[in-house]
Amino acid sequence: MTINYRGTVPNKEEFYQLYETTGWNANGTFTKEDLFKAISNSWYLISVYNDEKLIAFGRIISDGVYQTFIGDMIVHPDYQNRGIGSKILNLLVEKCKESGIKWVQLSSARGKIDFYKKLGFQERPIDGPGMQKFI
Ligand SMILES: CC(C)(COP(=O)(O)OP(=O)(O)OC[C@H]1O[C@@H](n2cnc3c(N)ncnc32)[C@H](O)[C@@H]1OP(=O)(O)O)[C@@H](O)C(=O)NCCC(=O)NCCS
Repeated sequence: MTINYRGTVPNKEEFYQLYETTGWNANGTFTKEDLFKAISNSWYLISVYNDEKLIAFGRIISDGVYQTFIGDMIVHPDYQNRGIGSKILNLLVEKCKESGIKWVQLSSARGKIDFYKKLGFQERPIDGPGMQKFI
């Protein structure tokens, strides 16, 4: 097994297959094209390959200075719990540091809070939570 971490946009089909492992698009809100356009517009991203197969992904959406969000952290179920998610998150945060970014936010999926806590992220204050609206 040869794991490579690359700062390049993955293939549309391969990304869609990886994304489907999360169940986040179970009701089909986003098409394959939507998701490819979305990731292509990232400020920075990491695609992880085992040989040439895409097995994990993570990205940053940022204005490069002030507002920065990490999203779409995905490790294929067959490759979870081997340190790959941590490595991606550390590479993304390192890229922010190199660029002088001082504040990084993310929304934790259910049940993943402890993963992010282990890597130094803190929950927002209870009276200042993240907010959302589907439109
Ligand atoms: C969350 C996710 C990215 C973690 O990636 P991973 O490669 O499995 O994580 P790692 O192997 O780097 O784990 C690092 C540490 O976090 C812990 N950890 C991993 N997932 C965890 C979880 N769900 N809850 C608590 N701890 C977790 C590991 O046990 C490990 O601890 P250790 O350092 O003490 O051994 C991966 O499970 C995933 O892709 N899940 C499905 C998609 C998802 O929900 N993504 C998060 C979106 S916010």
